Amino acid sequence: MCGIVGYVGERKVEEVLIDGLKRLEYRGYDSCGLALASSEMEIYRKRAKGRIENLASAVSKNPPGLRNSGIAHTRWATHGEPNEDNAHPHSDCSGEIVVVHNGIIENFSQLKEELIAKEHVFSSQTDTEVIAHLIEEKLKEVSKSFGIKHNVLEPVFFEAFRRAVNLLKGSFALGAIWAKTPDMILSARMQSPLVIGAGENENFLSSDVSAFLKYTKKVYFVEDGEIVVLRRGGANFFDLKGKKKAKEISTINWDLSMAEKGGYRHFMLKEIHEQADSVENTMAGRLLPLEENKVFEEIGLKAELAAKISEVQIIACGTAFHAGLAGRYVFEKLGIKTSADLASEFENRAALLDKNTLVIAVSQSGETADTIHAVKMAKRNGNNVLAITNTLGSSITRESDYTFYTHCGPEIGVASTKAFLGQLTAFYMLALNLSKSKGLLKHENLSKYSQELLRLPSLIKDTLGLENKIEKLTEAFSSKEHYLFIARDISYPVALEGALKIKEISYVHAEGYAAGEMKHGPIAIIEQGMPVIAIATSSSQLDLIRGNMEEARARGAELIAVVDEESRKNVKAKHYLEVPLINELFSAAISVIPLQLFAYYIALQRKCDIDKPRNLAKSVTVR
Ligand code: F6R
Repeated sequence: MCGIVGYVGERKVEEVLIDGLKRLEYRGYDSCGLALASSEMEIYRKRAKGRIENLASAVSKNPPGLRNSGIAHTRWATHGEPNEDNAHPHSDCSGEIVVVHNGIIENFSQLKEELIAKEHVFSSQTDTEVIAHLIEEKLKEVSKSFGIKHNVLEPVFFEAFRRAVNLLKGSFALGAIWAKTPDMILSARMQSPLVIGAGENENFLSSDVSAFLKYTKKVYFVEDGEIVVLRRGGANFFDLKGKKKAKEISTINWDLSMAEKGGYRHFMLKEIHEQADSVENTMAGRLLPLEENKVFEEIGLKAELAAKISEVQIIACGTAFHAGLAGRYVFEKLGIKTSADLASEFENRAALLDKNTLVIAVSQSGETADTIHAVKMAKRNGNNVLAITNTLGSSITRESDYTFYTHCGPEIGVASTKAFLGQLTAFYMLALNLSKSKGLLKHENLSKYSQELLRLPSLIKDTLGLENKIEKLTEAFSSKEHYLFIARDISYPVALEGALKIKEISYVHAEGYAAGEMKHGPIAIIEQGMPVIAIATSSSQLDLIRGNMEEARARGAELIAVVDEESRKNVKAKHYLEVPLINELFSAAISVIPLQLFAYYIALQRKCDIDKPRNLAKSVTVR
């Protein structure tokens, strides 16, 4: 995890870096720091425990003066507790070489021992610090052959950096500066996100485009095993052997307002409200005309290959897994056998997949380490992999054969909301297209389902009308410490998602259960006044869920039911959250919305840090 930023150009370097860090804070936020280089050939370094504001105030108390370049970091601890000593940037013994790093250096213990034997002195417990010392060591080696003359300093630093990077094992996105070469930043990538922003006489590096989007939309996506040399005048790319590479520039179509709060109190609330647009954008230009199988055409999946797909295997983590589990029900209701597994538990299953199984990997960020690892395992077994992601150029797109972009715009709140809706929509479209191309779906049904799908954006807007009611309702529940979410069939993943949302942003205990499982154990925990939230919208399972609700009520549960106008007539609960009626195949995309709002307002009442919940980071890039 963690986020890195780098800047070389004429602007106030510290301002660009601090602003960039604020936009990357969702990647981790237990400590942060920056380092700047100047023509006077000295390094200014400041670090702080906690949030970016602490760093900003430390910098403003002791301003750096005119600077040429700089690198910065926001951290989510993996090695060493979150304190100032372990905050990045880390430096070598001289303090002249500084490094920021996102990822994990797996061979750091061995490298550290070797460096200590060569009398390097370490001042942190991090894996990152070895990189700075390793570059220092390589600098000695290279200087001997190049000689330290002013005109070769940049090539010397490049060569030392290159040699050091070649010794690292694990994952990294790096930024490094040397006091003696203040006009150049060096960077490298291996299995951690890294993107370069190309401006006019200025250049940026970052873990994610949002850090520099206000200055430029022109970007280079860095590949694994590439080294980047960043100067004011441009970016140059090299492989690990030092051979120059040509690189294509891309243009980002997000604008900054899409990444800012737009008047909402939190990104999470803004993103909940953006869900109608997310669904609309995921569908745009892809659904109609139905005959054309536009989705497969866009992703390049040939009709012959689609016809051969025998089964679907879905892999993902967290909320994306819940979307995947809902996807499983959708595929199966349309006649296609499907499994859904947590990416972190998939390793042994990958080798047993039938070769005609299409693997669908879901990841909002496209950078989740477990999901990417699972994709690699499936590829190793010879399976075709389709990625559903929201992030252009992300790692998962490079590992997979096909990519379906959800086009939801940037999701900044750590708790995923609109990405979930985009992922569900992607599943609806893929399942309809696959089922049709395999001859499992009659045209009239395809047309009926597509009409329902097209109604989703407007039904989502109607559902958001529940917000005031939910805000009021949560006043009575904010002190509760335990919640149960129960549902059946295609609503079961929604129960899991409702429980996850409340856990991660309110820090209370919540469980999502398949309602049929209650009697097999979990019902024992129900006691007087315990909130039980049941998804009881119209479906073939409504009578069964009604029975499960009765059982919970008989044991003292305070029932909140998510219903629609039809099911409400038959469901008994203390509180009702009525959502619009839709075919049950698509109901998850509607019934999840009151649960997102419920979690949001409980967290608000409990004064929790909603966009940056404790212990979490937006993108989990370590396994
Ligand atoms: C929960 C949440 C996480 C992510 C999970 C996967 O609100 O955001 O559970 O869904 O870390 O992330 P992606 O989709 O980026 O692979």
